Amino acid sequence: MIRIRELSKRLGSKQVLKDCDLDIESGETIVVLGPSGTGKSVLLKHIIGLMHPDLGSIEIEGENIVGMSEREINQVRKRFGMLFQGSALFDSMTVGENVGLSLREHTRMTDAEIARRVSERLEWVGLKDVEGMKPASLSGGMRKRAGLARAIAMDPQFILYDEPTTGLDPIMSDVINQLIRDLQRRMGVTSIVVTHDLISAYHVADRLAMLHGGKIVFSGTPDQVRATTDPMVRQFIEGSSTGPIQPV
Ligand SMILES: Nc1ncnc2c1ncn2[C@@H]1O[C@H](COP(=O)(O)OP(=O)(O)OP(=O)(O)O)[C@@H](O)[C@H]1O
Ligand SMILES: [Mg+2]
Repeated sequence: MIRIRELSKRLGSKQVLKDCDLDIESGETIVVLGPSGTGKSVLLKHIIGLMHPDLGSIEIEGENIVGMSEREINQVRKRFGMLFQGSALFDSMTVGENVGLSLREHTRMTDAEIARRVSERLEWVGLKDVEGMKPASLSGGMRKRAGLARAIAMDPQFILYDEPTTGLDPIMSDVINQLIRDLQRRMGVTSIVVTHDLISAYHVADRLAMLHGGKIVFSGTPDQVRATTDPMVRQFIEGSSTGPIQPV
């Protein structure tokens, strides 16, 4: 499991995270909700050690990654797959090269083994015969899926999704939601999904947590979220501009 305690991070003049606590259980899919600019992407980047906190701890199965050397963090990061907001595919490489990148860098797999794994993972996300294409020639939904194939190439134990459905039409969003569920079942992964897409959130979440003011202010099952009278959660799920959350 992942245990985050009193995580604090200041960026520029903004206290983005402040005493943020969050527990993520093995095998669950937790959705982190929150308004734009609230620090959701920043939180994910801390969990994979791409950002370092000012204070606090992040334990991955009992091991605190805060204060680790870059080398140690790299080892831990191999257990994570991340679908970045905007997919973050390298435009100069083909889709196949993108998906196989970590395999080439971090394993001793042969070219043939890598090619097999790449086409297998592309198939898992519903893409066929796209290895030789450049990311720029893919549609938005295909880019997300290629990014997801890259995230799962190394058989990660944890998958982090940053806005996996943002910018996609409702049907493609549902395809991605199904994939998140399928991968949880197929690979037994622990997933953290950051989104402000509520349809997606209810679809994929075992548990939802809401980030606001630098900390997790609410966490519960989808049914608990629907039933809650917490004014911040209600404002967010009802999409109201008036309430305790001030639009920025
Ligand atoms: N590298 C950085 N340097 C300075 N400020 C940053 C940096 N990264 C993020 N921030 C600031 O931290 C805050 C949180 O950003 P973050 O990207 O985590 O928001 P978010 O919740 O993911 O929003 P969105 O839903 O729009 O993706 C924002 O005010 C942002 O401007
Ligand atoms: Mg973000």
